[in-house]
Amino acid sequence: MKGYVVSINGRFTTAAKAQVSVFDHGFLFGDSVYEVVRTVNGRLFAAGPHLRRLQASAGAIGLKLPHSAAWFERHMRAMHKKKPRTESYLRVIVTRGVGLLDLHPESCPKPNVIGIAKALPTWADEHYAHGCKIVLAGIRRNLKQATDPAVKSGNYLNNVLALMEARRENAAEALMINAQGFLTECTTSNIFLVKGGEVKTPGLDQGLLEGVTRGFILGVCRDLKLPVQECALTPDDLYAADEVFITSTTRDVMPVARIGNHRVKLTPGRLTLRIANAYHDVLHNPANLT
Ligand code: PDD
Repeated sequence: MKGYVVSINGRFTTAAKAQVSVFDHGFLFGDSVYEVVRTVNGRLFAAGPHLRRLQASAGAIGLKLPHSAAWFERHMRAMHKKKPRTESYLRVIVTRGVGLLDLHPESCPKPNVIGIAKALPTWADEHYAHGCKIVLAGIRRNLKQATDPAVKSGNYLNNVLALMEARRENAAEALMINAQGFLTECTTSNIFLVKGGEVKTPGLDQGLLEGVTRGFILGVCRDLKLPVQECALTPDDLYAADEVFITSTTRDVMPVARIGNHRVKLTPGRLTLRIANAYHDVLHNPANLT
């Protein structure tokens, strides 16, 4: 675990010494929420939207965050400063805390806050130059009426299984459909397609995480005056698309070249490149950095 910075309840420790109780309900039941923020030129990118989402995730599972957004922001900055490097991947996890071996959280008086930072992962240049491969996973995204995928919780087992499907086929990501057969999102990224000059992405009602990058990309499309729609999309829409790309905090805009054995028409497509370039400006806009 070299190169990691770890903190428990605001106190820094070494990765080797960092320990959380086996009775933490985050460990026992996946009863936790988290966020991932990246730095750009050593400053936090879009900390505000990420921390608002953390608050919303915690609220959705009835977990009271033990600190203010300002505290989390200061702490993430301290995590980056602890090991200054080019850019950091900063994760904060809030668990239900230690309690009895019993589902109900009434035995957990105090949430645990864990910080883990590492160097921002880099993806193969090839993925950006020629597009990555994704697969359509067999495993489905949760119903909105189950644990709502809009909640960024520690329950990622569907995503883990989907990613295992992807790796078996040498793919970078796995796209999940919902119970009705509509596209939702990938295991740690959102999906977009371009058809006839129009940009489309699955609507939030399909059950997916409202990606912070996704939100910026919708804004970029509007600024570029590109028609953009959040709507219900099927695998057939994806196969018929001219361009496909995925977005996330760590990937920015990554073109998709293949979906399983299907080859996407254009990779990287003209509009994907325009959007990626415009997003680069968003990433470096001082208004988004703190
Ligand atoms: N994951 N969908 C899921 C299920 C995700 O876990 C993520 C992010 C996204 C993209 O969201 P954003 O643009 O806010 O990063 C979509 C982070 C990066 C992670 O778990 O590492």
